[in-house]
Amino acid sequence: MPLSDTTPLLEIRGLSVTIPTPEGDVHAVRAVDLEIGRGDIHGLIGESGSGKTMTGMAMLGLVPKGSRIGAGRFHFDGQDLRQQAGRLRGRRIGMISQDPAAALNPVLSIRRQIDDVLRTHRDLPRAARRAEALALLAATGLPDPEKVLRSYPHQLSGGMQQRVVIAQALATGADFLIADEPTTALDVSVAMQVLALLRRLVAERNLTVLMITHDMDVIAEACDRVTVLYAGRSVETGPVEEVLNRPAHRYTRALLGALPDAVPRGARLAVVEGSFDDPDPEGAA
Ligand SMILES: Nc1ncnc2c1ncn2[C@@H]1O[C@H](COP(=O)(O)OP(=O)(O)O)[C@@H](O)[C@H]1O
Ligand SMILES: [Mg+2]
Repeated sequence: MPLSDTTPLLEIRGLSVTIPTPEGDVHAVRAVDLEIGRGDIHGLIGESGSGKTMTGMAMLGLVPKGSRIGAGRFHFDGQDLRQQAGRLRGRRIGMISQDPAAALNPVLSIRRQIDDVLRTHRDLPRAARRAEALALLAATGLPDPEKVLRSYPHQLSGGMQQRVVIAQALATGADFLIADEPTTALDVSVAMQVLALLRRLVAERNLTVLMITHDMDVIAEACDRVTVLYAGRSVETGPVEEVLNRPAHRYTRALLGALPDAVPRGARLAVVEGSFDDPDPEGAA
């Protein structure tokens, strides 16, 4: 049966990720529901250790070795991610990470790094790949794409590096991007430009984005809908305006309350004492 355009692109029900460690199982994700419609920028917010990154990694099929994934439903465009995540990664699902400098190889030119992606994922002759690399860099708003192609990562600012990483994600041909704290390493004004770029690319290229962040400003600035994670569980979801103006869950209210104007952007959210067991607050950001 063909799926209509109103079918959500991503449908997750009751996702759990359990990671075995020498000290015992870590319940990184306990019960996450997530539904993302085509063309949406869907925010996933929660404090450090709440399971945001591991939720994204599960979609990419990149959980730590030996991890157990449980889910009532774990579907991307009608395909079960439990079997298909590895195949969809880089074909349909791309990744933009927090640290563009780490995502890029320091010893290879930008030309080489984008070309490697194009060669792997797209069946194009050399000249067409070169034209596509230039077009992708231009699409991310980089001035002088020719010069950027000749550059090495250290010759670019953080904002320019993140644009290259976005171009690289687009080079795969992916139409669903998981952006994990994509602006955390950037200055406020550069961060705003990168968010505006993502919004423009979503509109121009029919993309869908999962925007992982701990920053309510990023949600307000860039997202259509938001899901709030607390201790590995999704506790609230809805349109951004609704959730921000009428938060239903006390944890969401606490997140919002933790962000009066006096709190600097990117400051850590207040840790909320909760009734859930084992919130594991020491998790990596
Ligand atoms: N490789 C790992 N091994 C063991 N525990 C992990 C690993 N990665 C993450 N965790 C734990 O899983 C939980 C969720 O982590 P993560 O998804 O990175 O949270 P977030 O991205 O919201 O900060 C945390 O408690 C973290 O310590
Ligand atoms: Mg994280």
